[in-house]
Amino acid sequence: MARRKFLMGNWKMYKTVGEALAFATAITESKTPLPESIDYAVAAPFTALYALGSALPENVLLGAQNVYFEHEGAFTGEVSARMLADVGVKYVIVGHSERRHVFDESDEWIRHKVRAVIGAGMLPVLCVGEDLRQRELNHTLRVCERQTLSGLAELTPEQVASSVIAYEPVWAIGSGQTPSPDDAEGVIRSIRHVVEQEKGSVAANSIRILYGGSVKPGNIAGFMQQANIDGSLVGGASLDPASFVDLAVATAGAAQ
Ligand code: PGA
Repeated sequence: MARRKFLMGNWKMYKTVGEALAFATAITESKTPLPESIDYAVAAPFTALYALGSALPENVLLGAQNVYFEHEGAFTGEVSARMLADVGVKYVIVGHSERRHVFDESDEWIRHKVRAVIGAGMLPVLCVGEDLRQRELNHTLRVCERQTLSGLAELTPEQVASSVIAYEPVWAIGSGQTPSPDDAEGVIRSIRHVVEQEKGSVAANSIRILYGGSVKPGNIAGFMQQANIDGSLVGGASLDPASFVDLAVATAGAAQ
Protein backbone atom coordinates (compact mmCIF):
# COMPACT_ATOMS: atom_id res chain seq x y z
CA MET A 1 0.00 0.00 0.00
CA ALA A 2 1.27 3.44 -0.87
CA ARG A 3 2.41 5.57 2.04
CA ARG A 4 0.31 8.70 2.57
CA LYS A 5 2.22 11.95 2.67
CA PHE A 6 2.53 13.53 6.11
CA LEU A 7 2.95 17.25 6.80
CA MET A 8 4.00 18.03 10.35
CA GLY A 9 4.61 21.46 11.81
CA ASN A 10 7.18 21.88 14.57
CA TRP A 11 6.41 25.11 16.36
CA LYS A 12 9.46 24.93 18.65
CA MET A 13 9.28 27.53 21.45
CA TYR A 14 6.70 29.69 19.71
CA LYS A 15 3.03 30.46 20.39
CA THR A 16 1.08 31.13 23.56
CA VAL A 17 -2.27 29.40 24.06
CA GLY A 18 -4.04 32.32 22.41
CA GLU A 19 -1.70 32.28 19.40
CA ALA A 20 -2.09 28.52 19.02
CA LEU A 21 -5.88 28.84 19.07
CA ALA A 22 -5.74 31.63 16.50
CA PHE A 23 -3.78 29.27 14.20
CA ALA A 24 -6.43 26.57 14.65
CA THR A 25 -9.22 29.02 13.84
CA ALA A 26 -7.39 30.32 10.78
CA ILE A 27 -6.84 26.89 9.21
CA THR A 28 -10.39 25.83 10.07
CA GLU A 29 -11.83 28.91 8.39
CA SER A 30 -9.30 29.07 5.56
CA LYS A 31 -10.84 29.69 2.12
CA THR A 32 -8.50 27.00 0.80
CA PRO A 33 -9.24 23.84 2.77
CA LEU A 34 -6.46 21.43 3.73
CA PRO A 35 -6.40 18.71 1.04
CA GLU A 36 -7.78 15.42 2.36
CA SER A 37 -5.29 13.27 0.48
CA ILE A 38 -2.50 13.84 3.02
CA ASP A 39 -2.08 13.56 6.82
CA TYR A 40 -1.31 16.42 9.21
CA ALA A 41 0.02 17.14 12.68
CA VAL A 42 1.31 20.17 14.54
CA ALA A 43 3.77 19.84 17.41
CA ALA A 44 2.97 22.64 19.84
CA PRO A 45 4.64 23.69 23.11
CA PHE A 46 3.42 21.70 26.14
CA THR A 47 1.47 24.66 27.51
CA ALA A 48 -0.75 24.93 24.43
CA LEU A 49 -1.45 21.22 23.87
CA TYR A 50 -4.61 20.78 25.90
CA ALA A 51 -6.40 23.80 24.47
CA LEU A 52 -5.16 23.24 20.94
CA GLY A 53 -6.32 19.62 20.89
CA SER A 54 -9.97 20.54 20.89
CA ALA A 55 -9.56 23.50 18.52
CA LEU A 56 -7.73 21.84 15.61
CA PRO A 57 -9.71 20.45 12.69
CA GLU A 58 -10.21 16.68 13.00
CA ASN A 59 -7.66 15.86 10.31
CA VAL A 60 -4.83 17.77 12.03
CA LEU A 61 -3.44 15.63 14.82
CA LEU A 62 -1.79 16.92 17.95
CA GLY A 63 1.97 16.54 18.32
CA ALA A 64 4.43 17.18 21.14
CA GLN A 65 8.08 18.19 20.76
CA ASN A 66 9.63 16.23 23.57
CA VAL A 67 8.86 13.78 26.39
CA TYR A 68 10.59 12.20 29.35
CA PHE A 69 10.85 8.43 29.40
CA GLU A 70 10.05 7.62 33.04
CA HIS A 71 6.45 6.75 33.88
CA GLU A 72 6.15 9.21 36.79
CA GLY A 73 8.16 10.31 39.79
CA ALA A 74 10.47 12.97 41.17
CA PHE A 75 11.61 14.48 37.85
CA THR A 76 11.05 18.18 38.31
CA GLY A 77 10.21 19.94 35.09
CA GLU A 78 9.60 16.83 32.99
CA VAL A 79 6.47 15.57 31.22
CA SER A 80 5.72 11.85 30.77
CA ALA A 81 4.36 10.03 27.73
CA ARG A 82 1.22 9.14 29.65
CA MET A 83 0.58 12.82 30.38
CA LEU A 84 0.92 13.66 26.69
CA ALA A 85 -1.43 10.86 25.62
CA ASP A 86 -3.88 12.10 28.25
CA VAL A 87 -4.23 15.49 26.55
CA GLY A 88 -4.74 13.94 23.13
CA VAL A 89 -1.22 13.88 21.68
CA LYS A 90 -0.75 11.35 18.86
CA TYR A 91 2.80 12.08 17.65
CA VAL A 92 5.88 12.98 19.65
CA ILE A 93 9.06 14.39 18.10
CA VAL A 94 12.03 12.60 19.65
CA GLY A 95 15.70 13.41 19.24
CA HIS A 96 15.28 16.70 17.40
CA SER A 97 18.71 18.15 16.69
CA GLU A 98 18.02 21.02 19.10
CA ARG A 99 17.42 18.41 21.84
CA ARG A 100 20.55 16.51 20.83
CA HIS A 101 22.80 19.57 20.56
CA VAL A 102 21.42 22.29 22.85
CA PHE A 103 20.27 19.90 25.58
CA ASP A 104 22.88 17.16 25.05
CA GLU A 105 20.45 14.29 24.64
CA SER A 106 22.22 11.01 23.93
CA ASP A 107 21.24 8.19 21.59
CA GLU A 108 20.46 6.16 24.69
CA TRP A 109 17.99 8.73 26.05
CA ILE A 110 16.38 9.04 22.67
CA ARG A 111 15.94 5.26 22.49
CA HIS A 112 14.23 5.29 25.90
CA LYS A 113 11.99 8.13 24.79
CA VAL A 114 10.94 6.32 21.60
CA ARG A 115 10.02 3.28 23.68
CA ALA A 116 8.04 5.41 26.16
CA VAL A 117 6.07 7.08 23.35
CA ILE A 118 5.08 3.72 21.84
CA GLY A 119 4.33 2.34 25.28
CA ALA A 120 1.78 5.12 25.85
CA GLY A 121 0.04 4.40 22.54
CA MET A 122 1.45 7.34 20.56
CA LEU A 123 3.81 7.40 17.57
CA PRO A 124 7.38 8.71 17.61
CA VAL A 125 8.83 11.05 15.00
CA LEU A 126 12.50 10.12 15.37
CA CYS A 127 14.80 12.85 14.06
CA VAL A 128 18.15 11.93 12.56
CA GLY A 129 20.69 13.93 10.60
CA GLU A 130 24.32 14.94 10.22
CA ASP A 131 25.89 18.24 11.20
CA LEU A 132 28.04 20.26 8.80
CA ARG A 133 31.33 18.78 9.93
CA GLN A 134 30.02 15.24 9.60
CA ARG A 135 28.75 16.08 6.13
CA GLU A 136 32.10 17.50 5.09
CA LEU A 137 33.79 14.34 6.33
CA ASN A 138 31.35 12.31 4.23
CA HIS A 139 29.87 10.72 7.36
CA THR A 140 26.23 11.54 6.58
CA LEU A 141 25.08 7.96 6.01
CA ARG A 142 27.05 6.60 8.92
CA VAL A 143 25.54 9.16 11.33
CA CYS A 144 21.98 8.61 10.07
CA GLU A 145 22.41 4.84 10.26
CA ARG A 146 23.67 4.98 13.84
CA GLN A 147 20.90 7.31 15.00
CA THR A 148 18.23 5.27 13.20
CA LEU A 149 19.33 1.87 14.50
CA SER A 150 19.78 3.15 18.02
CA GLY A 151 16.45 5.01 18.07
CA LEU A 152 14.44 2.05 16.79
CA ALA A 153 16.40 -0.66 18.62
CA GLU A 154 13.73 -1.60 21.13
CA LEU A 155 10.77 -1.62 18.73
CA THR A 156 9.21 -4.64 17.05
CA PRO A 157 8.88 -4.56 13.23
CA GLU A 158 5.15 -3.81 13.65
CA GLN A 159 5.93 -0.82 15.88
CA VAL A 160 8.53 0.41 13.42
CA ALA A 161 6.01 0.13 10.58
CA SER A 162 3.73 2.76 12.10
CA SER A 163 6.53 5.06 13.32
CA VAL A 164 7.97 8.09 11.55
CA ILE A 165 11.57 9.16 10.93
CA ALA A 166 12.48 12.74 10.02
CA TYR A 167 15.76 13.19 8.19
CA GLU A 168 16.86 16.69 9.18
CA PRO A 169 20.43 17.69 8.30
CA VAL A 170 21.47 19.90 11.21
CA TRP A 171 23.03 22.49 8.89
CA ALA A 172 19.73 22.89 7.02
CA ILE A 173 17.56 23.62 10.06
CA GLY A 174 16.58 27.27 10.20
CA SER A 175 19.43 28.22 7.88
CA GLY A 176 17.63 28.71 4.57
CA GLN A 177 19.97 26.11 3.07
CA THR A 178 18.81 22.67 1.97
CA PRO A 179 20.26 19.65 0.28
CA SER A 180 18.91 19.13 -3.23
CA PRO A 181 15.79 16.95 -3.40
CA ASP A 182 17.92 14.24 -5.07
CA ASP A 183 20.46 14.41 -2.30
CA ALA A 184 17.78 14.14 0.43
CA GLU A 185 16.15 11.28 -1.49
CA GLY A 186 19.48 9.42 -1.55
CA VAL A 187 19.96 9.72 2.21
CA ILE A 188 16.35 8.76 2.93
CA ARG A 189 16.63 5.75 0.61
CA SER A 190 19.67 4.63 2.60
CA ILE A 191 17.81 5.10 5.89
CA ARG A 192 14.98 2.94 4.54
CA HIS A 193 17.51 0.32 3.52
CA VAL A 194 18.96 0.26 7.03
CA VAL A 195 15.46 -0.19 8.46
CA GLU A 196 14.90 -3.06 6.03
CA GLN A 197 18.08 -4.86 7.04
CA GLU A 198 17.28 -4.54 10.73
CA LYS A 199 13.48 -4.78 10.87
CA GLY A 200 12.44 -6.40 7.59
CA SER A 201 10.80 -5.22 4.40
CA VAL A 202 7.27 -4.74 5.75
CA ALA A 203 8.55 -2.27 8.35
CA ALA A 204 10.81 -0.54 5.80
CA ASN A 205 8.03 -0.18 3.24
CA SER A 206 5.52 1.13 5.78
CA ILE A 207 7.53 3.54 7.93
CA ARG A 208 7.15 7.14 6.82
CA ILE A 209 10.42 9.02 6.40
CA LEU A 210 10.13 12.81 6.19
CA TYR A 211 12.57 15.46 5.09
CA GLY A 212 13.02 18.53 7.33
CA GLY A 213 15.23 21.63 7.27
CA SER A 214 14.31 25.01 5.72
CA VAL A 215 11.24 23.61 3.95
CA LYS A 216 9.10 26.43 2.55
CA PRO A 217 6.03 26.61 0.31
CA GLY A 218 8.37 27.47 -2.57
CA ASN A 219 10.68 24.45 -2.27
CA ILE A 220 8.52 21.70 -0.77
CA ALA A 221 7.26 20.24 -4.06
CA GLY A 222 10.72 19.14 -5.19
CA PHE A 223 11.15 17.08 -2.03
CA MET A 224 7.63 15.67 -2.12
CA GLN A 225 8.07 14.38 -5.67
CA GLN A 226 10.76 11.96 -4.52
CA ALA A 227 9.75 8.31 -4.21
CA ASN A 228 11.15 7.76 -0.71
CA ILE A 229 10.27 11.12 0.88
CA ASP A 230 6.92 10.69 2.61
CA GLY A 231 6.36 14.21 3.87
CA SER A 232 8.08 16.98 5.75
CA LEU A 233 8.74 18.29 9.23
CA VAL A 234 8.54 22.06 9.00
CA GLY A 235 9.64 24.61 11.58
CA GLY A 236 9.53 28.31 10.66
CA ALA A 237 7.18 27.99 7.68
CA SER A 238 4.58 26.09 9.75
CA LEU A 239 3.92 28.96 12.15
CA ASP A 240 1.79 31.05 9.84
CA PRO A 241 -1.56 29.42 8.98
CA ALA A 242 -1.56 30.66 5.38
CA SER A 243 1.91 29.25 4.89
CA PHE A 244 0.82 25.92 6.46
CA VAL A 245 -2.06 25.72 3.98
CA ASP A 246 0.32 26.51 1.10
CA LEU A 247 2.66 23.72 2.26
CA ALA A 248 -0.32 21.35 2.37
CA VAL A 249 -1.55 22.26 -1.09
CA ALA A 250 1.94 21.91 -2.58
CA THR A 251 2.41 18.53 -0.87
CA ALA A 252 -0.91 17.20 -2.13
CA GLY A 253 -0.17 18.49 -5.62
CA ALA A 254 3.24 16.81 -5.72
CA ALA A 255 1.84 13.54 -4.40
CA GLN A 256 -0.57 13.08 -7.29
P1 PGA B 1 12.99 24.82 9.89
O1 PGA B 1 13.01 23.77 11.10
O2 PGA B 1 11.89 24.36 8.95
O3 PGA B 1 12.68 26.14 10.52
O4 PGA B 1 14.33 24.76 9.24
C1 PGA B 1 12.79 22.40 10.88
C2 PGA B 1 12.86 21.66 12.18
O5 PGA B 1 13.67 22.03 13.04
O6 PGA B 1 12.12 20.67 12.38
